[in-house]
Amino acid sequence: MRTVTSLEELKGALTDLRSGSDRIALVPTMGALHRGHEALIRHAVGPDTTVVVTCFVNPTQFGPGKDYERYPRAPEADARLAGSAGAGLLWLPRMADIYPPGEMTRVRVGPIAASMEGLHRPGHFDGVATVVIKLITAARPDLLVLGEKDWQQVVVLRQVLRDLLWPTTIGVVPVVREADGLALSSRNQYLASTERVEALALSHALAAAAEAVANGETDGATVELTMREIMAEAPSLTVEYATVAHPETLLRLVRINRPARAFVAARIGKTRLIDTRALTP
Ligand code: PAJ
Repeated sequence: MRTVTSLEELKGALTDLRSGSDRIALVPTMGALHRGHEALIRHAVGPDTTVVVTCFVNPTQFGPGKDYERYPRAPEADARLAGSAGAGLLWLPRMADIYPPGEMTRVRVGPIAASMEGLHRPGHFDGVATVVIKLITAARPDLLVLGEKDWQQVVVLRQVLRDLLWPTTIGVVPVVREADGLALSSRNQYLASTERVEALALSHALAAAAEAVANGETDGATVELTMREIMAEAPSLTVEYATVAHPETLLRLVRINRPARAFVAARIGKTRLIDTRALTP
């Protein structure tokens, strides 16, 4: 695996890759890679596909406060994981390549980005869309690989690519979890041991929602209440949202009479966690 930083190096490496491979897949990340990111890389690797991984902690998608500075950074470990998962190229963009002095253009996403994450992290998806458009403009991938864990991000980026006439296909990889159900996240390493136990309330709430719907519950609000009640049992956990929504429009569902999706977000101490799961009546 080759590692590049500057846009000039990236250009050279991509020219070499394109001559030897049919397809380029891009796996954008913010680094601090774990088995969830690894699954995205492994999903895309193939005899005719070269995987380009980017690690860039994107400042424009963080709100005010210390979250951006606090975000974990582990470039050496990231290179080892990306290489062993089969990536062909690791791009570690420099800040000045993505946000050069004087730059001022932003992608502003419409109402699809207004609920859930967008409501609790104003401007977040504008930052995500802006950086992803910059990354794909530089790397020109055929395939963009994203994780189901950030389902709203997938829906938002599908919309953005469609609206901006990008033909890139999006591949979605299922949530990778710890043995006890906790969704892997770069932020899990912030959790103290008691918080780590309470964090299970998110996946437990989603499991209860899936079970209720599988057993015939069709009332969206009832399922949302079930999730809130489970999360309320964890004393240091503050629920931000517990929502049952249409998987593509992300509109809240009053009646669950077709495949739906449950979404949860909560704060535990200073750490914010999200998770999601499909609901099948
Ligand atoms: P990051 O949080 O690093 O996640 C990078 C990709 O890994 C995302 O597509 C995310 O959904 C996926 N991912 C994270 N945890 C996962 C898990 N447990 N199982 C499966 N996939 C998982 O998402 C971002 O970075 C940024 O917003 C980014 C798209 C890179 C733009 O800056």
